[in-house]
Amino acid sequence: MAARSLRKRFNQRSNSINLQHNQMASSSPPWRLTYRKASFLISAVIFVCVLLLLSISWNMRSAFGSDHRLDLVYSAEVVRVFPHDPNAFTQGLLYAGNDTFFESTGLNGRSSVRKVALGTGKVEAIHEMQHSFFGEGLTLLGEKLFQVTWLQNTGFIYDRNNLSQIGTFVNQMNDGWGLATDGKVIFGSDGSSTLYQLDPRTFKVILKQTVKFKGHEVHNLNELEYVNGEVWANVWQTDCIARISVTDGAVLGWLFLPYLRESLVASGARGIDVLNGIAWDREKNRIFVTGKLWPKLYEIKLHQWTPFNGDIGSLCLTRPHHF
Ligand SMILES: *[C@@H]1O[C@H](CO)[C@@H](O)[C@H](O)[C@H]1NC(C)=O
Ligand SMILES: *[C@@H]1O[C@H](CO)[C@@H](O)[C@H](O)[C@H]1NC(C)=O
Repeated sequence: MAARSLRKRFNQRSNSINLQHNQMASSSPPWRLTYRKASFLISAVIFVCVLLLLSISWNMRSAFGSDHRLDLVYSAEVVRVFPHDPNAFTQGLLYAGNDTFFESTGLNGRSSVRKVALGTGKVEAIHEMQHSFFGEGLTLLGEKLFQVTWLQNTGFIYDRNNLSQIGTFVNQMNDGWGLATDGKVIFGSDGSSTLYQLDPRTFKVILKQTVKFKGHEVHNLNELEYVNGEVWANVWQTDCIARISVTDGAVLGWLFLPYLRESLVASGARGIDVLNGIAWDREKNRIFVTGKLWPKLYEIKLHQWTPFNGDIGSLCLTRPHHF
């Protein structure tokens, strides 16, 4: 009873406060309105001036190409760390649901396709390749895994359920580096600056796009992942992942992740190679990255790196390499 009457009284009070408030607002004197109008006008003029100044300096900067602060650079927040086989020379990585990856590894005599448990890093199934093949990019379309090989045009097709080889195909790119898919086409890289689109039935090249950042070609495109409408590519021998527009091949932004490799080295990891391997869990929107011979795999979250006090172009763009 007491509580209810109290609440009632309180409601009545707040109603009367609201009333007073409304009355005050509607009865403000005319000079006050003119003042408001004037101050609004002044703010608008200032706002337009600032916009003009900004666009002038923006244009001047982009004309000289000197302002790196406008580049979209992302750093990685490590959400979780998982074990990863330190003997896996990771060349292809993809998330296949149910906390499971498929991974392709390279080096002659150590090349394989494997099914790996996310939580433990344990290899649950493995197909070991012949010594003459150097495993590279891997992608999963339906029930089939597709894999390319380095310096050869032989591609392999495996059954995802038991990793048995069920076919081969001819890779029509200049080499085999990375593969990814949006479920319709296969994206491919061959270590150049070209992002290929391949027909998953005939493996014919449907489209070739030159990946560019501010007019400069991005060479050495390596492991690929399709992420939410973009293709992400490791750039070989850098700590960079390019976020590529599938519309025109333009780099939309960069993930710059030197910290992961550096922290592994600092914690005593010996003989690790470069950052390579990106996987996207479409369902839970999780991003995973690892590297060749890295003992860890990371779930990461992106954060825009502002301001980025460096020239991302000089960090991520490399000279073309010919094998
Ligand atoms: C998910 O993985 C676990 C452990 O490997 C397995 O027991 C289970 O059958 C899998 N579930 C599906 C739907 O594949
Ligand atoms: C692999 O699994 C498929 C079904 O997905 C089956 O038809 C095939 O016989 C299996 N191969 C081997 C070698 O077990």
